[in-house]
Amino acid sequence: MLMPFAHISDTHLDCPGSSDFIKRLHREVRDPLENLTCCLQELAARKVAFVLHTGDMVHEGDAGDYAILRRLFDKYLPGVPVIAAMGNHDHRAAFREGFLGIPSPGDEDFTQEVVLDGLRILVLDSAKSGLIGSVSDAQVDWLEERLASPAPRGTFLMMHHPTVCEHPAMALEVSPEFSSLVENSDIHAIFTGHTHSNYNGFFAGKPLYTADSLAFGMLYIQSEVIYTSRSSYNLCWLDEQGRVTTHNQLLYPEVQVLQRKSVAQMIQGLPR
Ligand SMILES: [Fe+2]
Repeated sequence: MLMPFAHISDTHLDCPGSSDFIKRLHREVRDPLENLTCCLQELAARKVAFVLHTGDMVHEGDAGDYAILRRLFDKYLPGVPVIAAMGNHDHRAAFREGFLGIPSPGDEDFTQEVVLDGLRILVLDSAKSGLIGSVSDAQVDWLEERLASPAPRGTFLMMHHPTVCEHPAMALEVSPEFSSLVENSDIHAIFTGHTHSNYNGFFAGKPLYTADSLAFGMLYIQSEVIYTSRSSYNLCWLDEQGRVTTHNQLLYPEVQVLQRKSVAQMIQGLPR
């Protein structure tokens, strides 16, 4: 029997701490809150079993901003598990307090193991190094411990930064140990975000899905990055054999170009 679920990413809800650049982008398109609300209404109608959020939930927000996000999920998808990964615009302590209800002053890595109906979901925190990302040796050890024994329905791996993508400069560099661990595991699929560009590929022999942003899109064409009004998420299904199929669901059919930058300029420092 197919299990429906959703993969959403980079919702970037506006916060008092958001940069002028982001506020301007959001003014030129729709309010990200409106996009997320529209998405959650669709997911409620689809009766998804769970939601994966691959980071950049709110844009430089505090605990109150994460609490607003939590209430939105609770309103439209009551009781539906939401499993989230840290993005480079997320704040760990604020997320733990506002979204998870676990007051925590620290900024320690957010890794998580969730088991849903025999399916194991492992969440890594690739966002400590900002835009470029990284997976620490400690996280590789943590992953190795968990993957030592298989889960009844196999494993999903989640993190913000993709290890493969259409623009090599945006791909997360990982160690050979990490690649080997993923390759020789019961991982069915890897879910990522960050690039604001829907992309499906393979890493270490496993399918890797990168969801679009629900806030705004980014197209990588040679040395240029083009900011667009594209907003979408992935509807997904898991079958009994662990195979994942996805459908990219655009919120709005028309996509307009907002701004252009060089990729190098963006990597040097995307305005926060
Ligand atoms: Fe993002």
